[in-house]
Amino acid sequence: MARLDPHSWNDTTQPETERLTWRAKVDFATRTLEAEAELTFRLPGAGSLDLDTRDLAIASVSTSDGKPLEFMVAAPDPILGARLRVILPEATAGIRIRYRTAPGASALQWLTPAQTAGGEHPYLFSQCQAIHARSVVPLQDTPRIRIRYRAELTVPVRLRALMAAAFVGREERGAVAVERWEMPQPIPPYLFAFAVGDLVSRDLGARSRVWAEPAVVERAAWEFATVDAMLHTAEELFGPYPWERFDLLTMPPSFPYGGMENPRLTFLTPTLLAGDRSLVNVVAHELAHSWTGNLVSNASAEHFWLNEGFTVFAERRIVEALGGVGGGGDSDGEEVALQAAIGRRDLDRDLEQFRDRPDLTRLRTHLEGIDPDEAFSRVPYEKGYLFLRTLEESVGRAAFSAFLRRYIDAFRFQTLTSEEFAAWLAKELPEAVAQVDVAAWIDGPGIPAGAPAPRSARLDAIARLDGRLPDDATARAWTPTEWQLFLESLARPSPQETCRALDQRFQLTASGNHEVLVAWLVVAAESGYAPALPRIEEVLASVGRMKYLKPLYTALAKAPSTRDLARRCFARCRDGYHPIAQQVIEAVLQQHHA
Ligand code: BES
Ligand code: ZN
Repeated sequence: MARLDPHSWNDTTQPETERLTWRAKVDFATRTLEAEAELTFRLPGAGSLDLDTRDLAIASVSTSDGKPLEFMVAAPDPILGARLRVILPEATAGIRIRYRTAPGASALQWLTPAQTAGGEHPYLFSQCQAIHARSVVPLQDTPRIRIRYRAELTVPVRLRALMAAAFVGREERGAVAVERWEMPQPIPPYLFAFAVGDLVSRDLGARSRVWAEPAVVERAAWEFATVDAMLHTAEELFGPYPWERFDLLTMPPSFPYGGMENPRLTFLTPTLLAGDRSLVNVVAHELAHSWTGNLVSNASAEHFWLNEGFTVFAERRIVEALGGVGGGGDSDGEEVALQAAIGRRDLDRDLEQFRDRPDLTRLRTHLEGIDPDEAFSRVPYEKGYLFLRTLEESVGRAAFSAFLRRYIDAFRFQTLTSEEFAAWLAKELPEAVAQVDVAAWIDGPGIPAGAPAPRSARLDAIARLDGRLPDDATARAWTPTEWQLFLESLARPSPQETCRALDQRFQLTASGNHEVLVAWLVVAAESGYAPALPRIEEVLASVGRMKYLKPLYTALAKAPSTRDLARRCFARCRDGYHPIAQQVIEAVLQQHHA
């Protein structure tokens, strides 16, 4: 018995799944999937097979050729879910499981028509990272076991099903349509993804199109129009794009993340539609995952920085090569410096948050008994980025870029641990290892001394203001990134007078850029500036992105005068949030006794 991933029941001595064949009927009335999963093994095996499940009602298990098999579902573990154990007879090549998902499946969000942009049709989407795939499919839910799959989704005929896979075909049969998809490249199960809704698309380039509800698709096509240039830039940096297509899906507002790198079909929050392409670095980030994360994957959530730290590094390389976000003609690297400065501020805030849990500030974490959603922070992102920048500075950009290409080549379609990375680094880049304290970066808490600091003239100008309001000419020239940095530099609480002047002169409450808007609303809430409260309530009611919910609920819950408002807002909005977001906000409120 050997369990290597603390978030999976997978036993590495048992047969490994190589291929999944999945059929599911989407029932909006009961909010369930009636499904069948066939798992085919790399090699035929026998004995116990342990699978991950969460809230699945297992109807039957048989061999691929229909012979019934003995199985038991163990009592659920609160983090891992319930182990499904199947007893395999001699030389079993695969098994077939019939089951039904629960209406509260943690990976799924079922939206009523009222929760969509069009207001007429229901919507369903999945979010499997880190360990939610098991609430949709019984499988070995660990990135260590890559699977290829074929899938068949039966949906109401008015709707479209999309998967993070290659489209095979659609067949209409009366009231329903059957959509077939295929994923020919092996993926970690957390990248299994689909969405069902009233979806249409616009082509953006030879390899990309954007999908969205009809009411949103034109705005999305405009905002993401630079994706083809991004794809070419990324290929120059990291090698040929390995997934054929790079399509985008603009999600409903309750999508809990900014973006999710589902292969061939990146999921994006609609809060990116700022109307000025200022937030498309998130697209660059998800695109970068095509190499760092999807091609070379972390072996478990304990090595998440291998996915996210490398991807933030790659994202900023893409943004730099493009000359700023949205191709803004920023040739001096200022935009990247500003973004790195925001990253550093977020990182410092999270380090402060984890003051009592220094273990969670390591790059390589130990998460036995800890839910990855609870351990989530900017640490793997921004500390990982700083570590890679430190390595880069020690050997120079050319040598580090070459190293990165070799790394991607060496581990493509594989998973690795932090220890495996450190060993490879020592072999491939000994000059770096001689200068950098790799162990302190990977296994130590906090940020080692001498971490690179972003430098930029525009950053210095904001620092020189020292919290004083900018003059009109200065403010007019600011990008949203500069606004965000400025707002985050303000004192908490700031005087009412400052808040009023800021809002009246610069119309911050009306900002269409959610990064700027939320940075402002957090200052306002932390300053007890009451005129901003109605807008905060609106944002909490209309957006489910955790990056915005968390600081806003925290700011409200921290202050006695708004604690009750936080509780009432959550009671009212809760049903509209994704199950993962519900859980995270509940923890925030509990922490502040709201
Ligand atoms: N893979 C993550 C999102 C994620 C992380 C989902 C952990 C589930 C568990 C994605 O690539 C991501 O990092 N998104 C960021 C984008 C940002 C760093 C540009 C986000 O959602 O804000
Ligand atoms: Zn990411």
